[in-house]
Amino acid sequence: MSSASTANIDVLLSEHRRFPPPEPFRSHALVRDGTFAADADRDPVAFWEARARELEWITPWHSALEWTPPFAKWFLGGTLNASVNCVDRHIRGARRNAAAIIWEGEPGDRRTLTYWDLYREVNQAANMLRALGVKKGDRVAIYLPLVPEAVVSMLACARIGAIHSVVFGGFSPDSLRDRINDAGATVLITADGGYRRGQVVPLKRNADAAIAECPTIEHVVVVQRRSGSGPDESFAEMQEGRDHWWHRLMRKAAQWCEPEVMDAEDLLFILYTSGTTGKPKGIAHSTGGYLTGAAATMKYVFDLRDDDVFWCTADVGWITGHSYLTYGPLANGATCVLYEGAPDWPTQDRFWSMCERYGVTIFYTAPTAIRAFMKWGTSFVTPHDLSRLRLLGSVGEPINPEAWIWYHEVIGKGRCPIVDTWWQTETGAIMITPLPGATETKPGSATMPFPGIRAALMDANANEIVEGGGLLTITHPWPSMLRTIWGDRQRYVDTYFSKWPGRPDLYFAGDGAKRDADGYYWILGRVDDVLNVAGHRIGTMEVESALVDHPAVAEAAVVGKHHELKGQAIAAFVTLRAGHHASSELRDTLREHVALKIGALARPDDILFSADLPKTRSGKIMRRLLRDIAEGRALGDTTTLADPSVVASLKDQYESQES
Ligand code: PRX
Repeated sequence: MSSASTANIDVLLSEHRRFPPPEPFRSHALVRDGTFAADADRDPVAFWEARARELEWITPWHSALEWTPPFAKWFLGGTLNASVNCVDRHIRGARRNAAAIIWEGEPGDRRTLTYWDLYREVNQAANMLRALGVKKGDRVAIYLPLVPEAVVSMLACARIGAIHSVVFGGFSPDSLRDRINDAGATVLITADGGYRRGQVVPLKRNADAAIAECPTIEHVVVVQRRSGSGPDESFAEMQEGRDHWWHRLMRKAAQWCEPEVMDAEDLLFILYTSGTTGKPKGIAHSTGGYLTGAAATMKYVFDLRDDDVFWCTADVGWITGHSYLTYGPLANGATCVLYEGAPDWPTQDRFWSMCERYGVTIFYTAPTAIRAFMKWGTSFVTPHDLSRLRLLGSVGEPINPEAWIWYHEVIGKGRCPIVDTWWQTETGAIMITPLPGATETKPGSATMPFPGIRAALMDANANEIVEGGGLLTITHPWPSMLRTIWGDRQRYVDTYFSKWPGRPDLYFAGDGAKRDADGYYWILGRVDDVLNVAGHRIGTMEVESALVDHPAVAEAAVVGKHHELKGQAIAAFVTLRAGHHASSELRDTLREHVALKIGALARPDDILFSADLPKTRSGKIMRRLLRDIAEGRALGDTTTLADPSVVASLKDQYESQES
């Protein structure tokens, strides 16, 4: 574990505040005590079967679980359709005219879709895709801003059994290209542009650059986000035959689309996430198990009721946007707020003015955002009426106790429980979390596993650590677990189920955690070469590959360093090829190069040029020492280095650059 994590442990160990569920909340909550969790603990499979029965199935399953470690199948023989669960079943009942999506664009434009509206749009979009030749099992890439069409596209794919692969709109053309090619997508859904901090994100232009090198793409459907004519139109040059305007195809599409009968184990989607190599992994999720996990956690973690207005601030490009902005809420017939843009546009109170405007009752965001709100100050919060809020959530990174307390007091006015939810792209749904009406919370702790989930901490030899620090593992399969890595079954086995030899039943999460005397989990962060920058997962190898792609760079090593707002920031150590010289211009060029290759989220904060990198005698880069340098700590053991003087001179350079 890095020494940054050790510092975290010290802070967390001194955290003794306790927050029992506030009484008015507890007495109305769906889960008020420990019996729900205790029942689940006795028989997790029966618990998950009961949750699966809360969905609508076409045919019931004959067996709940087949577990041949590390491969699990859930609800075998069962068939269902995810879009039917998310829309059709609500239009038959009281939710027909309720708002499914309350959307606000960054410029201030608004749209509300009732469940009935959503039902119509999903059916038509599904017919539109079928008319373009998309069949069950085909892959459809989605590269959109956060507009209602993003959710409609996902559900339309689900309706016809196509596997969607959403790519975050902030990713570069190269990143989009690699994801499309890995998935072999035949159709891409994009938009002429999106808005971010008042600027237009030229999605169609990026898409054009990407698909110039995507031989499998046959059709591109373009959502018109930009209105008007003139220079705006240059954001979408339409290629005859290949490119189609979404609104024109929708006009021609028939109203009813027969949903495909999907096996519980048929894939619902792929979502790419960063790992420890340069190549992102296509995390593959099933239909029945995933939907069961997303729907159940949505209902019980967020204590969801029909009159709630739920706002998850994530983008659809991330797993949070899949599980808690699309499938989880819609499977429950919830009303969701969707917002396209930045939290500080046009002013730093955008989120709070929206909470007030829509009467948001449940608000779910990331610690990075909370720390930014803290920095901007309470004056942006207090003018707004947040009295409708009743529950707050946090996800994506460890939340420091200071940010937790601020969230609790300034946003929740001391009245709203906070659910700090730990989970991952791979887990599909929330895994470790308080149940807000039942769990006493401790600031900075994600508390305990969700009912039906079995977690543990292990040392390197698979000895369980009941109290203290260790590697986080999930010890029993769960319905929404990933089924494989798209096209790379072996990588699935190697990455997630090979940490402890002879124990292919143990899922390795990649996180370190601490368990206290009450059995509470305190997540400390990644123990592998994956960074978490502002809640976004980035592999150090991806950034290194982007750097060495530049002609001036001979070698690069990337590490994470603590950052007050973003949690972690990227620090890169670079050696140059002969004939190239370090300069601040080259530093800027390289930072931009990474942003261009991957996306702005991967732009390094620091780049340090060095004649050499600290290596062991066998040539392995000593990242631990680079982390020490980037974090300004005393250097650890340098005796195994091939040339110990390298690291001392690097440290001097780094410090003089900082000052
Ligand atoms: O390190 C953990 C951190 O985010 C990683 C998963 O990233 P991703 O797959 O992008 O999913 C993020 C949204 C679910 C984890 O390995 N993480 C996520 N939630 C928490 C967290 N770390 C601490 N506390 C959390 N609540």
